[in-house]
Amino acid sequence: MALFEWDDNLVVGVLEIDDQHQRLVELINLLHDDIISPDKSGSEKITQEILEELVDYTIAHFSIEQYLMDVHEYPESPAHINEHNKFIDKISQFEKDFKEKHANIQQDTLAFLKDWLYNHIMKVDKEFGKFLNSKGVS
Ligand SMILES: [Fe+2]
Ligand SMILES: [Fe+2]
Repeated sequence: MALFEWDDNLVVGVLEIDDQHQRLVELINLLHDDIISPDKSGSEKITQEILEELVDYTIAHFSIEQYLMDVHEYPESPAHINEHNKFIDKISQFEKDFKEKHANIQQDTLAFLKDWLYNHIMKVDKEFGKFLNSKGVS
């Protein structure tokens, strides 16, 4: 069973953002499936690839949100961007530890990723989605 089940409560109402959130959920699930896979032999490379994609995709997603904030002069952008930056620091550190120290990705790391994304979408991104809708973006 997937770690993170997508549900429509997570929809923020802006198509591009919603599509990207679904991809992020998928990547977290891929990482989870990889970690719990019974045959882990020789799969460090796969874990590394998923982690890299998760970091790169997250950075790209945040850039697009931040671009939309700039274009539409979103007043809450400093706090929102601050959340993004802290998350990027965290996941970059996971990736670095994995690459350099061969640290295992633990269940609590996955729980952190899932909880952070869920809470961020439900609170901050939904607020931003409402703002964008009010500007005619959907
Ligand atoms: Fe987002
Ligand atoms: Fe966001």
